[in-house]
Amino acid sequence: MSNPVSLEVVDRTALVSIDNPPVNAASHAVRAGLVNTMQAANAMTDVDVIVLYAKGRTFIAGADIKEFGKPPMDPWLPEVCNRIEDSATPVIAVLHGTPLGGGLEVAMAAHARVALPGTKLGLPEVNLGILPGAGGTQRAPRLVGIPSALDMILTGRHVPLDEAISLGLVDHVLDGTPREAALGAAALWRESKIATRKTGELTVAPDDAALNAARETIAKTQPHLFSPMKCVDAVAASVLPIREGLRKERDLFNECLNSPQRAGLIHAFFMERAVAKVPEAKLAPRAFQKIGVIGSGLMGSGIATACLMAGLSVVMIDTSPDALERGRAAVAGNLDKAVARGKLSPDKRATASSGFTTSLDMAHLSDADIVIEAVFEEMDAKKAVFRTLDDVCKPGAVLATNTSYLDINEIAISTRRSEDVIGLHFFSPAHIMRLLEVVVADATAPEVVSTGFALAKALRKVAVRAGVCDGFIGNRILATTRKAADYMLLDGASPFEIDTAIEAFGFAMGPYRVLDMAGLDISWASRKRQAATRPAKERYVAIGDRICEHGMLGRKTGLGYYSYDEEIAPNPDALAIIDAERASAGIKARTFKADEIVARYMAAMVMEGARVLEDGIALRPIDVDAILVFGYGFPRFRGGPMHYCDTEGAATLVARIDAYAKEDPVFWRVPDTLRKMAKTGATFAARN
Ligand code: CAA
Repeated sequence: MSNPVSLEVVDRTALVSIDNPPVNAASHAVRAGLVNTMQAANAMTDVDVIVLYAKGRTFIAGADIKEFGKPPMDPWLPEVCNRIEDSATPVIAVLHGTPLGGGLEVAMAAHARVALPGTKLGLPEVNLGILPGAGGTQRAPRLVGIPSALDMILTGRHVPLDEAISLGLVDHVLDGTPREAALGAAALWRESKIATRKTGELTVAPDDAALNAARETIAKTQPHLFSPMKCVDAVAASVLPIREGLRKERDLFNECLNSPQRAGLIHAFFMERAVAKVPEAKLAPRAFQKIGVIGSGLMGSGIATACLMAGLSVVMIDTSPDALERGRAAVAGNLDKAVARGKLSPDKRATASSGFTTSLDMAHLSDADIVIEAVFEEMDAKKAVFRTLDDVCKPGAVLATNTSYLDINEIAISTRRSEDVIGLHFFSPAHIMRLLEVVVADATAPEVVSTGFALAKALRKVAVRAGVCDGFIGNRILATTRKAADYMLLDGASPFEIDTAIEAFGFAMGPYRVLDMAGLDISWASRKRQAATRPAKERYVAIGDRICEHGMLGRKTGLGYYSYDEEIAPNPDALAIIDAERASAGIKARTFKADEIVARYMAAMVMEGARVLEDGIALRPIDVDAILVFGYGFPRFRGGPMHYCDTEGAATLVARIDAYAKEDPVFWRVPDTLRKMAKTGATFAARN
């Protein structure tokens, strides 16, 4: 393998350059190369300064994440950083792109830092379940103080260059290529315009108040996460002499490295990128700039907002002036909030408004490149819309439906251009939720699929490819998981107990809180729709139906599984309905411990996930994981249901499902692939 680190001497400057595409990750070869070249440069008596820079799009963007979990190989990054800091010859780092994590740690070990315009710096390790373990927790406080170091390390945010300068992270800005800036930095150093000093020799002002405040915030806002508290403990050690602090940092880093959360979060990092690698992505997408959105309700206005925020123009269609006016107001409100949250600049807000039109006439879709239908979930209504689209849209326009579960093949054949029809399933609120399920029907042309993925990229969403079935990937798995929850409800658990257990596992919200938020009539409607195809022997829990029949439709009516007065509390009327249903089924309520609730809920999720894979509805296990993490509040640190199964072991899941099947063999059935995996010890990860 060629050496990714090279040494060039220009006059009295030793230029050490790193070339390890795509992001110059500090792989083993880079680390070894850095140690060797630093040693060689230090031995050169005619060299008075060493400058580190990187080729390509960025300075080192971190340790090589692919190496985590594998046996460690010397030299480790902390040692590389110590070698740089200990260098007798002054070392300057020239930064560009995104010096992140281990990359910024290398830079902080240098004796001065110069950056090119546009550089963004950060310590995002916490997002991967670890901490900056190459001296970052010790050197950042020495350069920027404990409060700013805590902010950077606990948020992982990318710090823009002007802020990095004012914090004291960057000493100087230079234009040009990284190599030109490296030579420029050496010249400025010789003119004493750039001062060098060893970061480890700086002292840190103790700040117990900042450390305690950080601990309190974490306990309140991130109670499930392991690494944030460890980050604070490591920063607390920065008041010690550097070698002692570094030893403490190493111990805490190893604790994080060995935690299952690290594996889950790194799985999630790669998952976000892996899902875009679908067979159709090789084809050039169709060009798009003008988007038609049919329907001005919550979904339509969210989709329109997402498109406008991405700089696309939007024409929104509805059937009444009042509905359009409500849609227009909703979009304006969404854009205003995006400006207030700092997600959209006032300039872009103005461009977004000027690119937005509304109309009662579908003929105004004649020049749209992509049309997204978001009318109510009724097959006949959808077909009528698509027949009109067939008449009015230009040839080559992509015709998308935002249906959550209807048969897209049936919608497609209502047009004379089935190859242009695709499902683009957004999640509400569509301008905020990151998931887009791209549902590929039998006749969908590959470049239409590629266009769906390109649209998702423009909207900064995570697109996942799905096949056609009732509920596609996400809602199909959700339906099965909800049944498992309902069986526990009928058998003795309360909605509050189930929600509490699932939230303690790490879900953003338990199933009954989600149902109340979405509106209980929505799931009621899908149960009615599925009634005809429900297996006759399957247990049916009518609690949700009964609650709806009493006019309690969740949050919007103030009553559902919970009551929403000033405080949210279990709804006594719903509890009475549950008791009555148990009595009429002759069930004596039993106790469910939190562990059992989670085990059953997760077993149902894995069971349906495995079936979705067997049916070819999802391409790979990682696609199932991405759907749940980005669209359904699945805890990111657990990596998704299929990763969870790998963590627990397929044999454990099979044993659980077999045990549950003894009481209900209709619902609980081990999918063949899962049983095979349990026998062979195979993992879902091996199929990603
Ligand atoms: N290690 C290994 N591979 C990496 C990587 C890393 N640190 N960072 C990015 N990559 C890979 C991506 O997986 C992707 O690979 P594919 O093309 O095969 O999918 C490729 O590089 C390009 O990445 P992106 O698609 O994300 O490109 P981008 O331009 O959108 O973003 C980036 C670039 C901002 C650097 C982004 O990739 C990123 O945030 N990377 C992670 C940065 C990070 O977390 N660094 C800390 C690492 S942990 C650490 O350093 C520990 C320590 O303290 C010792």
